Amino acid sequence: MRPRSLELRAPRSDAEWDRLHAIRKLFIFDVYHPPHGPWPCEYDPAHPDDRDPANKPLLLLADGEVAGTLRLDLKEDGRAVVRLVALAPGFRGGGLGASMLEMAEDMARAAGARSLCVNAQPGVVGFYARRGFAPGRWEGCSSCPRGVPMAKALAEGLPAREARAAPTPRRHGASKGRLDRATVGAGRLPADRTREGVLRNRTARPSMRTAQPPHQPRPHPKRGPCSPRSLRGAHSSGMSGSPTSTAPAR
Ligand SMILES: CC(C)(COP(=O)(O)OP(=O)(O)OC[C@H]1O[C@@H](n2cnc3c(N)ncnc32)[C@H](O)[C@@H]1OP(=O)(O)O)[C@@H](O)C(=O)NCCC(=O)NCCS
Repeated sequence: MRPRSLELRAPRSDAEWDRLHAIRKLFIFDVYHPPHGPWPCEYDPAHPDDRDPANKPLLLLADGEVAGTLRLDLKEDGRAVVRLVALAPGFRGGGLGASMLEMAEDMARAAGARSLCVNAQPGVVGFYARRGFAPGRWEGCSSCPRGVPMAKALAEGLPAREARAAPTPRRHGASKGRLDRATVGAGRLPADRTREGVLRNRTARPSMRTAQPPHQPRPHPKRGPCSPRSLRGAHSSGMSGSPTSTAPAR
C-alpha cells in the first residue's frame, strides 16, 4: 500500500541514526563491497564525511516509518551529489526510490545547486537514467571502477516533477499511480536540527539548514584496495573504510 505521507529529513534520535547506518551497511556495503568480494570495504558509521556540515545524511520516512536513506552533499561550485542511496527491501519497487530522489533533487535546487551527481551501482544505472541522469564523469566522482558516475542538470526554480517532464521520455507516476507530491512532506528538514545552518551556498534557504554533529576531522587511513581518494567517492556508492573510527555519526 502506498504511504500517505513521505518525509525526507535528518535523523532525530540515536535510534534513527542506527537505522540509517544499518540500511547503508546491510543494503549497500554488504551487497556491493563484501569482505571477500573484489571491492571489499567495511562500512564506517563514523566516517568524517557524515560530519561535514555541507553533507546532509537524510532518512526517508513513509507514514513515519523509516523506509530508506540517502545523503545529499552540497558543493560550493553549484553541484550537489546524492550518495548512499538505499531503501529497505520492503519499500522497494513502488515508486519510493523515485520519490526520495525527487525530494533530494528539490532540496538541492532549493539550496541553489545547478546539477545533481551520483555514483550509480551498475545495476541501478537504469533507475537514474529514467530520472534524467546521464553517464559521465564529474569532479570528485568515485574512482572505484564499480561505480558509474552520472549527472543531471537541475532546471532552475522548478520542482523535480515539472523539471523532469521536458527532458525525460516517460512521466514519473503514470505507470504505478505514484505518490502525489501534494501529499508528501517533500524536503522538510526538522527545525530542531538547525543548529549550524551552514549550507555553503549563499542561496540556501533556512528550511534547508540541518544541524550536523561537530566536524571532527581526522586522518583517513588507507585500507585495502580503497585509496583515500576512492573512499571519498565510494562512501557515496557504498564504500568507506576507517577501522580507527571511534563514534558513529549522530
Ligand atoms: C535503487 C532503489 C533506491 C530504487 O528504489 P525503488 O523504490 O525500488 O525504485 P522505484 O520503484 O521508485 O523505481 C522508479 C523507476 O526506476 C525503475 N527502476 C528501479 N530500479 C531499477 C533498476 N535497478 N534498473 C532499472 N530501472 C529501475 C523502476 O522501474 C521505475 O521506473 P518507472 O518510473 O518508469 O516506472 C532501491 O531499489 C534500492 O534501495 N536498492 C538497493 C540499494 C541500491 O542499490 N542503491 C543504489 C546505490 S547507487
